[in-house]
This record gives sequence, C-alpha cells and structure tokens, in this order.
Amino acid sequence: MSRVFNMAVVGCGAIAQGMHLPNIAAHAGIRLRWCCDINPRTLKTVAARWKPDRTTTRIEDVAADPECDAVLIATHPEGRRDLVRTLAAAGKHLYVEKPLADNLPDILRIQRIADETGIVLSVGHNRRMAPALRDARDLFHAHRAAPRSEPWRWDREGRRRPPRPEERQTVMLQRINDDYFSWKAWAFEENAGILLLELNHFTDLAYFFLEREPVLVSAAGSPMMNVLINITFEDGSLCAIVDACVGTFGYPKELYEIYHQGAAIIVDHCMEVRTAGIPGQPFRRLYPSPGDAQAAGIEAWYDRTLEAAGRHTDKTKPLASPWPDKGHFRFLDAFVKACRGEGPNPCDAVCGARAAAIVLKAALSLRNGGKPQRIRPEEYLARPR
Ligand SMILES: NC(=O)c1ccc[n+]([C@@H]2O[C@H](COP(=O)([O-])OP(=O)(O)OC[C@H]3O[C@@H](n4cnc5c(N)ncnc54)[C@H](O)[C@@H]3O)[C@@H](O)[C@H]2O)c1
Repeated sequence: MSRVFNMAVVGCGAIAQGMHLPNIAAHAGIRLRWCCDINPRTLKTVAARWKPDRTTTRIEDVAADPECDAVLIATHPEGRRDLVRTLAAAGKHLYVEKPLADNLPDILRIQRIADETGIVLSVGHNRRMAPALRDARDLFHAHRAAPRSEPWRWDREGRRRPPRPEERQTVMLQRINDDYFSWKAWAFEENAGILLLELNHFTDLAYFFLEREPVLVSAAGSPMMNVLINITFEDGSLCAIVDACVGTFGYPKELYEIYHQGAAIIVDHCMEVRTAGIPGQPFRRLYPSPGDAQAAGIEAWYDRTLEAAGRHTDKTKPLASPWPDKGHFRFLDAFVKACRGEGPNPCDAVCGARAAAIVLKAALSLRNGGKPQRIRPEEYLARPR
C-alpha cells in the first residue's frame, strides 16, 4: 500500500458531496484518486469541486487501478453486492454506505466475499464514532459492569424487596424526529422507504450499546415513513425505535435514552449527554458542532436554529442549524487506520448484517400485521460466532 492512502468514491450523490468528499479533502492522509458515477453530469460537478486524479463512469476502471487502496461506495442499496464483489475481487478495501444490503441472501453473500478476499469492509454506521454516543456507551458499559446506586435512591422495601430477573436488563429508547419533505424521491420511488434506508443506523446503535443478540422484532406503521420498531434481546433487554417523519428540523432530530439499574443516560442530538443515577457523574456534557465549535450543547443548538429560522427564505436549502457530530470524519479515519492495520474495523460486515437483518425482520412484521418475528444469528451471520 502506498504511503498516501488512495481512495475512490463510487456514487457521488448527496451524501458523497455533502459529507464524504469534504471529509476526504480534509483528511491529511487520504488522496482522492477516483470519482466514479454513472451520471456524467454528476462527475463533472464533483471533478470541478473536489479535483480527483481521475473520473470514470465504469467501476472496472477503479477495480483495475493498482494505485487505488480503498473505495467508498455511496450508491443506492440495490446492486451493491455486485459492486462489492467486483471491487473486493480486485483487493480494494471497502467503506460501504448503509444499508449493507436490502435482502438476507445478499447480507450473507457480502460477508462471505469479505471473508474470502480478506479485505477490510466497513459498513457506514458512522454514529458508532460520534463522540457523544461513544461517551454515553462507555458510561453505560462501566455502570452495567459495576452498578452503583446514588445514596438518595428511593429503596422503599430494602432487603424485603423481592429480587427480579428484569433488574439486570436494559431499556433503550431511540426517537427520531425527521421531516420527509427533506427526503429525495428515490427513497420512496424504488419501494425502499425510510425503514430500509435509514433505520439501520438505529438498529445498529441498539446492538452497539447493548452488545446482546436480538431475538424478537416487531413493528407498526409504514415501511415508507412513520414506523415503530420493538426489539427484544437475548437477555430480555428492550429497545424501542420511534421514527416520526412528520416532524420538524426546528427541533433536535435524535434523542437516545438508556436506562439500567437505577441510572439514566440521555444523548440529545449528539450535542449533549445527560446522566443521572450514576454516582460522581456530571449531569451534562456538551459536544460542539463540527461546523461551529462555539455551538456546544442543546441550548446553543436552539439559539442558533431560531436565529437561522428568522432569516431563512429559500425552501430548497436546509435550515442552517449547527449540525451535530455524528461521527462521519472519525469513522473515515478509523476505516483508513483499519486498512493500514493500525486499528479495529469501526463497523464490520457482521455488525452491518445484524443491523440490516433487524430492519428486514421489522419489514416482515409489518407485512404480517405487526406480528413479532423471531430472529436467529444463523439467518444473518455467514459464520457461526
Ligand atoms: N451515513 C449517512 O449519514 C448517510 C446519509 C445519507 C445517505 N446515506 C446512504 O448513502 C447512499 C446514497 O445516498 P444518497 O442520498 O447520496 O443518494 P443519491 O441518489 O444522492 O446518490 C447516489 C449516486 O450514486 C450514483 N450511482 C448509482 N448507481 C451507481 C453505480 N452502479 N456506479 C456508480 N455510481 C452509481 C447515482 O448516479 C448517484 O449520483 C444510500 O445507501 C443511503 O442510504 C448515508
């Protein structure tokens, strides 16, 4: 591998232009070797802005380039398996946008391709690298390993309180306040829907926190938008994901709440972590926006957002709220380090597979009137654990 890490971006649409290409440009260790897109007009736009060494509409050109170390695939989920197969066969490490795939057979095949070729394959569940979520997870894991109650915890019955097996379980809530006016038409036209395209992030986070295998999944609502998912894990822990697509970007988008053994850990829009019930922990930790270091914490987010709303006139452009650090840059950096053998894979194919499989089970539950669906590791793991 060359000293400078040469990357290609395949699929140069919204997320590539809004996040990945700027992050690659900002990363001192990465050179943008290729931009590849089937749309020549898109290629022209990104070539002018991001100045890759080369552009192409043909994935084979990228695969054949011995100087190209890794490829970031940011196309739509369908056809992803074939892109992965071609590029992995050429020995390219892969950063694959979520979802890993849109069906269980492809989920298994992609894992086998990664195993057989020995490439690093990371699935773009970038929130795993968000500082607020990582801190919250560390707090939760430390508390779960050695729970301590606050001296003021109300213990009405003391020793007479009957021990319950549920005491050791975790309950997690994830609430997403989205506005479907902001979504592109293809998300609905290709029969994909937000359940398949977006909720993988959150099914992945459930496992990222709990590190228990899911056993039961049920859902209510529509796969297109407005959907509730309930997941039960092997130890009885529960996660509820509430996805509202009829919400507003005038209010913070994501709220995560984790409850365990007398403690609450709340992550508000990746800009603030609030903790209660864990002795010695501060109530609030604030996290800055990557675009505005002065905007740290949820109150700064409100102030800036209200101010921006007051002067915003162009409905085709997003409101200039401070965007939270959802870990995209750190994820890219971790991927490069993993390819160089300098660190762990930030989200391997197995984790991507599990996240996608839970969503597919939720879709199955919806098709069966909300009936809970069993989920077994052998359905989504290509190799036994
Ligand atoms: N991680 C995140 O935060 C995040 C955010 C948004 C989207 N995404 C994911 O990124 C992917 C892309 O979403 P988007 O909103 O950027 O879509 P988009 O439609 O804006 O861009 C997709 C691009 O891929 C190109 N393309 C399609 N097939 C191709 C092929 N075979 N070879 C080369 N180029 C091809 C299209 O021409 C288009 O330019 C989706 O899987 C989506 O779920 C991730």
